[in-house]
Amino acid sequence: MQKISVRGGKVLKGEVSISGSKNATLPVMTAALLGESPSILKNVPLLNDIKTMAEVLRKLGSKAVMEDHQLKIDPAGFNKFEAPYELVKTMRASIYSLGACLARQGEAKVSLPGGCAIGARPIDLHLKGVEQLGAKVTIEHGFVHAKASKLKGATIYLAGPHGPSLGATVNVLLAATAAEGTTVIESASIEPEVEELVNFLNAMGASIEGVGTSRLVITGKKILKGVEYSVIPDRVEAGTFMVAAAVTRGDVLLKNAKTGHLTSVTEKLRQIGVSVEAEPGGIRVKGNGNYKPADVMILPYPGFPTDMQAQIMALLAIVPGISIVTETIWENRFMHVFEMNRMGADITIDRSHAVVKGVAKLTGAPVMASDLRASAALILAGLVAEGETLVQRIYHLDRGYEKIEEKLSVLGADISRVN
Ligand code: UD1
Repeated sequence: MQKISVRGGKVLKGEVSISGSKNATLPVMTAALLGESPSILKNVPLLNDIKTMAEVLRKLGSKAVMEDHQLKIDPAGFNKFEAPYELVKTMRASIYSLGACLARQGEAKVSLPGGCAIGARPIDLHLKGVEQLGAKVTIEHGFVHAKASKLKGATIYLAGPHGPSLGATVNVLLAATAAEGTTVIESASIEPEVEELVNFLNAMGASIEGVGTSRLVITGKKILKGVEYSVIPDRVEAGTFMVAAAVTRGDVLLKNAKTGHLTSVTEKLRQIGVSVEAEPGGIRVKGNGNYKPADVMILPYPGFPTDMQAQIMALLAIVPGISIVTETIWENRFMHVFEMNRMGADITIDRSHAVVKGVAKLTGAPVMASDLRASAALILAGLVAEGETLVQRIYHLDRGYEKIEEKLSVLGADISRVN
């Protein structure tokens, strides 16, 4: 089993290129199934989640060929509708095949994703959405089976107890492209990754109004064609490197990062005392020795993202004073706290709140990553910890960060992958 070894204390300096967005590529890959001709996706990150989704597409009969950062998807053979347990259990985004299979084949069978390290992860809103479009949904033997002789447009309210759902919005958008008449999604997720999917579907010939808003109006039954499309930069990878620069009090230019997608993260870093400035070609982040604590409330976009909660905590752990981080999306997303405390952090959890008392220093330790963003946060903590931090279970990391240790090394970090 591979591990990441980090020796803290280096100040990060230089430039880093931000890769294409994982969370934008995954829905777009599924949408490519809806075309009558192949699509070519560019700026695709080289990640295990992308490989898993390519495998899902192949299981459904289509071709998916990756060459460098370009992915060609040929949906000509897309004639199967089952996403098996072996793939869904490793990557929940496989659930997007529900909407695509219903749209093109009127039937979908997807293994139920179940819970995971960060929370229960229900899919009731996905199912409610496709049922309102006319699908009959049954759950048997751990699979969702949805069938529709005809999908019909409807008005669907998609907010759940924690606000809009990214995944449900994706599934309903995909299915609605094939529904007769007009579908209105109220309280749709407005995350940039949904905007990207809408732009991609419209480029394919779909008719979706309201891009970037919480009210999407889809006129279905259009013939969709394959297109060439370049994926947006990954805002979570960018945010992670912003914290890397801040925590090491460095000076880093994030090439390709989009300021517009990082407003809440930028605001929070500035409140802490980090300098964040847009420059031609990217975002420059400069750290210093004079930080103030800050409270962070995790909210749906454009609020502070749940996918940056663990990383910002790595920074707050060494900021003098008390910061409170409140997680509202995933009930169990504080697993990194126990590992950070083993590194000398002083963080206590009270239900959905983490009370972070800034400490003067962290010390390196062997730590266990519980999920993708927690892995990144432990590396960030390791960058400032005294001595060696050995991050284990880094298969999570390889799902969502392209060559993170190489990118950090180029910036001057003492980091390597060890067996
Ligand atoms: C969520 C995040 C996304 C992040 C991803 C991985 C939000 C709004 N979404 O997307 O930014 O990249 O996790 O960390 O921050 N829910 C239901 N019923 C459903 C679906 C969801 O109650 O059918 C609830 C979830 O339990 C959760 C919230 O709604 O509390 C948001 O879930 P959703 O956006 O669907 O999750 P992901 O698509 O995984």
